[in-house]
Amino acid sequence: MRNKTIGIIGTGNVGHALAVRLIATGYTVKVANSRGPHTLIAFENTTKAKAVPLSAVAADADMLIIAIPFGKIRELTSTLHLPEKVVVVDTGNYYPERDGTIAEIEEGMPETQWVSAQLGVPVVKAFNNIMASSLASNWKPAGIKNRIALPVAGDDQLARNEVKALVEELGFTAYDAGDLSDSWRQQPGEPAYCTDPSLSELLLLLARANRKKAMANRDKAAKLMARIPPTFTGQQLVRASRLSAGLDIWQPKSWAAMLQLIWTILRA
Ligand SMILES: NC(=O)c1ccc[n+]([C@@H]2O[C@H](COP(=O)([O-])OP(=O)(O)OC[C@H]3O[C@@H](n4cnc5c(N)ncnc54)[C@H](OP(=O)(O)O)[C@@H]3O)[C@@H](O)[C@H]2O)c1
Repeated sequence: MRNKTIGIIGTGNVGHALAVRLIATGYTVKVANSRGPHTLIAFENTTKAKAVPLSAVAADADMLIIAIPFGKIRELTSTLHLPEKVVVVDTGNYYPERDGTIAEIEEGMPETQWVSAQLGVPVVKAFNNIMASSLASNWKPAGIKNRIALPVAGDDQLARNEVKALVEELGFTAYDAGDLSDSWRQQPGEPAYCTDPSLSELLLLLARANRKKAMANRDKAAKLMARIPPTFTGQQLVRASRLSAGLDIWQPKSWAAMLQLIWTILRA
């Protein structure tokens, strides 16, 4: 896919991390937010991405990555023009407290199936279970031990393959997580969320996800995340998440991160 163009909607934590990595990997990147390119001059300067209006971000793009708060996705439908062959990727997570209640998801529809229904095109779910800070900094070339593995789920096999290839190029091991029906396994509150797992760990964690408890787990995770101040770093959160998923139980740094997380939340 190198020398191809990727559009990103959203220039926050995830959009910035992806833009930097994509450009370093050789892609041309266009970005858009809701307020227009004139608000993205600093973003253009730091990333070398090209800011464009939302209506133009998908034009001529081979892939379009959506990295905006989940509840705002409905706002895209009136402005976004999707070319027929563009592969659409959803990085989002649904947090009802932040995004408003979405009845279909509460009734059991996997999050990205809902995104696909809003946009009227197949959508691939990827990058939703890794912290933006890990996306930016914890990538590794193929073959290096303990490379982070990321699940890629989607109903269109060809689109899923393209996103898997991109994940590998960006420095992560791509795991084919099948169609969207099982993609709840990679959502917030499940063991594979924000744990920077190796491939063998990822398989174990996805298998441990609990469908019956998924919504309650997601809501617990959302409440917890809302109480964590920005001073708590992404890497501390990954360490605490790994410990609570049963990984690294003999690592003093993990216990230190967990104790610090508990202390931070109690003080918040
Ligand atoms: N933060 C993480 O580490 C992380 C990791 C994995 C997944 N996620 C998920 O990824 C999604 C994005 O998270 P984030 O942390 O990157 O968010 P963020 O830092 O809050 O950035 C959101 C971006 O979306 C833009 N935006 C908001 N409404 C928009 C609209 N209607 N049209 C176009 N752009 C719009 C915002 O710009 P304007 O307001 O200027 O339009 C901003 O650039 C969320 O669903 C989140 O749960 C986050």
